[in-house]
Amino acid sequence: MYADLLEQQPTPYYVYDTALLAQTLQAIDAETRQHDNYHVHYAIKANADHVVLQQIAQAGLGADCVSGGEIRAALDAGFPASKIVFAGVAKADWEIRLALEAGIAAFNVESREELDIIAQMARELGIQARISLRINPDVGAHTHAHITTGLAENKFGIDRSQMVEVIRHAMSLPATEFMGLHFHIGSQLLVMDDFVALAQRINELQDQLDAEGITLKHINVGGGLGVDYDQPDTHPIPDFRAYFAAYTDNLRLRPGQQLHFELGRAVVAQMGSLITRVLFVKHGLHKRFAIVDAGMTELIRPALYGALHQIMPVHLEGHNLCFGTPAAATETYDVVGPICESSDVFAKDYRMAPVRRGQLLAIRSAGAYGQVMASCYNCRPLPKAFTVASLAACHS
Ligand code: LLP
Repeated sequence: MYADLLEQQPTPYYVYDTALLAQTLQAIDAETRQHDNYHVHYAIKANADHVVLQQIAQAGLGADCVSGGEIRAALDAGFPASKIVFAGVAKADWEIRLALEAGIAAFNVESREELDIIAQMARELGIQARISLRINPDVGAHTHAHITTGLAENKFGIDRSQMVEVIRHAMSLPATEFMGLHFHIGSQLLVMDDFVALAQRINELQDQLDAEGITLKHINVGGGLGVDYDQPDTHPIPDFRAYFAAYTDNLRLRPGQQLHFELGRAVVAQMGSLITRVLFVKHGLHKRFAIVDAGMTELIRPALYGALHQIMPVHLEGHNLCFGTPAAATETYDVVGPICESSDVFAKDYRMAPVRRGQLLAIRSAGAYGQVMASCYNCRPLPKAFTVASLAACHS
């Protein structure tokens, strides 16, 4: 498979580097193993590939799901139900029933209305539903407007002013067990002060709850740790030490309290590349276009968020994926896809080594929110994914 992989598979497709994923999981373990009350749930929405999920489940992480499909994918990959949490503003009845029957760890409930429906369904099924309430912390985050979620005007979570009332209501319902609070302020956060601000906000809320005589068994701080899209080979593993320290140093946990995290992108982004072939090099009036066979259908992040993923020539040496060096980048191209939309552009005025028709390129840092966001627009088939055990990305 290895020798043939890059050249013989029809492009475009994803490759996932399982060795880098293993190293990333080890780095998370190294930062959390001394805290037996820390629990990391992998946010399945970032990448739901079965092999990837199995590897993450085997490393002992739990799963953060936002749909019935994700709960099924988590169970199929071996995540125990006791380590699955279920968030989302619009849980359908069948999804709630599936989660109740599977016996998941907790629902992250986003409104009082949802709480009542879960309680009613739990009562009908004769099951106790464990509940965590998602509170909107009203903490801004330094990231793209589309992926910040913790501000007051977002649709997510329960407003702080309603927190005590909804907790009391949850505690009064016979079929629910109130576990704690859930938060999430946004994604692709690289400024640790954002997490510190969340920790401080949670401290304020806990002080308020102490005064009300309400105790929390657990606190879930969501995810959001970003990755280095500009230099994936210099920083293949995110700064988990700084991330966990932001909470360890600033969040005042009460004795016995469990702290849950929901990391998605930081676990899987750097281990994935989208492999595409150059179809044409078109010489326009003022620009040169590298027209490739992948488009916004396979990776929508550039079109949707203006994200820039590094693009490099790629080949295999043994089991290693080898990428071209930035030093060889002597030409300038607009790298564009085949979709009939002018936003189907991966990069503008992008410096690369000279490219030719038929050549393979890797669009890097595409392991998170890549394959899972693919679409069939223009009647295109969904991209496949392959795993390789690359010990290190080499450069040539
Ligand atoms: N927990 C909750 C409640 C979330 O909404 C999310 C992501 C996560 C955890 C995981 O966040 P992460 O650790 O991956 O930042 N498609 C966008 C990202 C959307 C994130 C949605 N929520 C992108 O491609 O940048």
